[in-house]
Amino acid sequence: MTTSSAPGKIILFGEHAVVYGRPALAVPVTQVHADVEVLDSARAGIWIQAPDVNLHAELNTLPSDHPIASVIHNFFFLSRVSPFPNLDIRISSTIPVASGLGSGAAVSVALLRALSSHLEKQMTDKEVNAFVYEIEKLHHGTPSGIDNTVVTYAQPVYFVKGLPIEIFRVGRPFTILIGDTGIPAPTRESVGDVQRFWLKDKARWESLFDNIAEISFTARRVIEEGWVKMLGELMDENHALLQQMTVSSPELDTLVEAARSAGALGAKMSGGGRGGNMIALVEPETAEAVSASLKEAGATNTIITRVA
Ligand code: MEV
Repeated sequence: MTTSSAPGKIILFGEHAVVYGRPALAVPVTQVHADVEVLDSARAGIWIQAPDVNLHAELNTLPSDHPIASVIHNFFFLSRVSPFPNLDIRISSTIPVASGLGSGAAVSVALLRALSSHLEKQMTDKEVNAFVYEIEKLHHGTPSGIDNTVVTYAQPVYFVKGLPIEIFRVGRPFTILIGDTGIPAPTRESVGDVQRFWLKDKARWESLFDNIAEISFTARRVIEEGWVKMLGELMDENHALLQQMTVSSPELDTLVEAARSAGALGAKMSGGGRGGNMIALVEPETAEAVSASLKEAGATNTIITRVA
């Protein structure tokens, strides 16, 4: 049996603008993860069990563009695996789906790594990342590639589309509280809307993206120097720009406001928006109290994570 695990992720700064070549910062969230087991099987075929998404099926009965089937088919094709071995594949995940925490990328990364090591076709991180980016493109339209990158490398990433990845240093650890609106984030739709607005008024949108780029650029420096309080202000500024871009939502704004009123140093939505998660920068000793306020304000779940 071969196992593999991949973490969730959050975007700290720069979502949406990252699709237009601006920098963004993302960190892994190890409290949630996707886990895959691959076992040789006595029965014919490749049997996939993913109880979280109610899936129990043989590979050939799934449409070829199914997210899990497309990882397996593409891996077999690229690695010239033929004939197909008989396998049992078990997939589980504690990462909420469509919440901006990278669940799709994490399942793909864990599945690819478990398959490649089970079949002794070793892949480097760079190869895993490039492969999963292609899978993300099949399912999400025009992703920047930040999700697959942070999930593959499981490290804090300063990401600019098309450039080699940069791992950023964390000068002083800080605590992030993640609050879930419980509403699925329609990322494909929000990314599509931003593209339509941008096409109609490029000058205005390029300038919004530039403002976000400035924030991401400054945030990296602030994190590396350990000036944690300044980070809160940058989160507030980034959220205001995302509101102007129409990708926040009343539910996200309510949680962001609740976090600030309960003592967070700053807060913003995270990921595609219009649902999914928001994040707040908190002192470790106030994390539980801010978390309780988020739940009172409607958060369906919270996670406290330390960025170190
Ligand atoms: C989604 O996690 C982040 C977006 O910036 C889209 C992308 O980068 O592909 C909204």
